[in-house]
Amino acid sequence: MDRIRLVGGNQLNGEIAISGAKNAALPLMISSLLTDEPLVLHNVPRLADVKQLERILENHGVDIAVHGRRRGEDEGVGQRMTFHAADIVDTTAPYDLVSKMRASFWVIGPLLARCHEARVSLPGGCAIGTRPVDLFLFGLQALGAEIDIDEGYVVARAPKGGLVGATVAFSKVSVGATHTILMAATLAKGKTVIENAAQEPEITNVAECLVAMGAKISGIGTRTLTIEGVERLHGATVEVIPDRIETGTFAMAAAMTGGDVLLKGARPEHLQAALDILARTGTELIAEADGLRVRRNGKGIQAVDVETDPFPGFPTDLQAQFMALMTMSNGTSQIRETIFENRYMHVAELVRFGADISVNGQVATITGKPQLKGAQVMATDLRASVSLVIAGLAAKGETVVNRIYHLDRGFERLEDKLSRCGAEIERLAG
Ligand code: EPU
Repeated sequence: MDRIRLVGGNQLNGEIAISGAKNAALPLMISSLLTDEPLVLHNVPRLADVKQLERILENHGVDIAVHGRRRGEDEGVGQRMTFHAADIVDTTAPYDLVSKMRASFWVIGPLLARCHEARVSLPGGCAIGTRPVDLFLFGLQALGAEIDIDEGYVVARAPKGGLVGATVAFSKVSVGATHTILMAATLAKGKTVIENAAQEPEITNVAECLVAMGAKISGIGTRTLTIEGVERLHGATVEVIPDRIETGTFAMAAAMTGGDVLLKGARPEHLQAALDILARTGTELIAEADGLRVRRNGKGIQAVDVETDPFPGFPTDLQAQFMALMTMSNGTSQIRETIFENRYMHVAELVRFGADISVNGQVATITGKPQLKGAQVMATDLRASVSLVIAGLAAKGETVVNRIYHLDRGFERLEDKLSRCGAEIERLAG
C-alpha cells in the first residue's frame, strides 16, 4: 500500500487549482440513469470514488466515455465525461460494488423511477458511523414504492405505472436521501414536496443538472424542494462545482503552516461558515476574482470553538482538518460533532504528533501546543487522512501517513498540489 512521507515546517506559498467536487460528481453521474440520452459532465475529478462509481454504472448498462484534454488546457482541468444510459440492462447493484462506497446506494432512486424496480445491496456501516438508510426507504415508500429487505438487499418496486408524487417530510437532514428522492421524484406522476431537504451546494448542482435535463424543480437551494414529475428527461451538459471541502482543507493547511496561497476557482460562498471560523483563528481570507486567497503570517493561531451542522453550517467533512489546526492554537477549543456519531477516529492519530485532545461523547477538547512532532500515523477515512497530512505539514521532522488509499478516494493530486506550494511531500510506493 502506498504511503505519504512529508517533512514539516515549510510555509505554503503559491497557487492551488481546486478540483471538481467529489460529492457533486457522484450524484451527477448517478443522474445519468434517469435518461436514455447522454449526460455530459465537465470538471469531473480523477478520483478512486469516481472510478468505483463508473464500475457500478457500467454494471447497469451505462456507456461511459472520458474525453481527452484540449489544446491549451492544463493538467489541472478536470475530466470531460459522457454517461449514456441508453438501455438499463440490470437493476441490481450488487454487494461487492455497493459495499465499497456508500453513495452507490443512491442509484436506487433513478432505477426505481425509470425502470420501476431496483435491487440494491444495503451499504452497511463504515468507519465514521452506522449510517442507516431509513430516510431513503421512508421517502421511496412515500412515493408509493413497495420495499422488502431480502438477503442484505433492498428490493424496491414502484406501483403499476410508476412512482407517484407525495410530500416527503424528512425527520433529519440527509444529503444522500435528498439526492435520491429528488432524482426519483423527477419521473414520478404529479407533485412531490421534499421538506427538511439538505441545502448543500452539491444538492443545488444536481437539482440544476436535473432542470437542464428537463425536470421541473422549484425551491432549489432552500429547505423545501418542489418537483413536478415529467414523462421523460433528456440529455444535458453540466459542470461539476469546485470542491468546497478541498478548498477548506487547503485553507486550513495554509492557516496552519503560514504562508500565502491562492485557491484558484474556489467559491467562498460554498463554505462561508468554515471561512468565518478560520477568520476568527487569525487567518486572512480574501475573495479574489479567480478564487480565494488564504494568508497567515507570523501571528499565532487563535483557539475557536466549532459545532458541525448541515449546510450552511460548519461541514462535518472539515471537522478533522480543523481539529488538526487547533492542535497548534494558543488556547483551548472545543469541537462538537453533531452529524456522525463516530467521527473522531483521527484523534488517536493526532495524539501521536503530541497533540493534547480528549473526547467526551460528541465533544472533543483540544489544548493547543506551540509545536507538533512528526510521527508514523495511519488513516481510517478520507477526511481523517488529510487531517494527518495537515498536521504533518506543520510538525517538526518527518511524518509518514500509512494507508493513503483513503486519500485517493477524495483528493486529486494532493502531494503534487502541496509540493508545488513548497511542501516537502512525496508518495512512497507500497
Ligand atoms: N442518516 C440516517 N438515516 C438515513 C440517512 C442518513 O439516520 O437514512 C443519518 C446519518 O447516519 C448521519 C446523518 O443522517 O448521521 C447525515 O448523513 P447524510 O445522509 O447527510 O450523509 P451522506 O449522504 O451519507 C454525505 C457526504 C459525506 C458527508 C455527509 C454529511 C457524499 C458522497 N457524502 O454523506 O461525505 O459527510 O453527506 O455532510 O456526498 C466524505 O466526503 O468524506 C463524506 C463522508
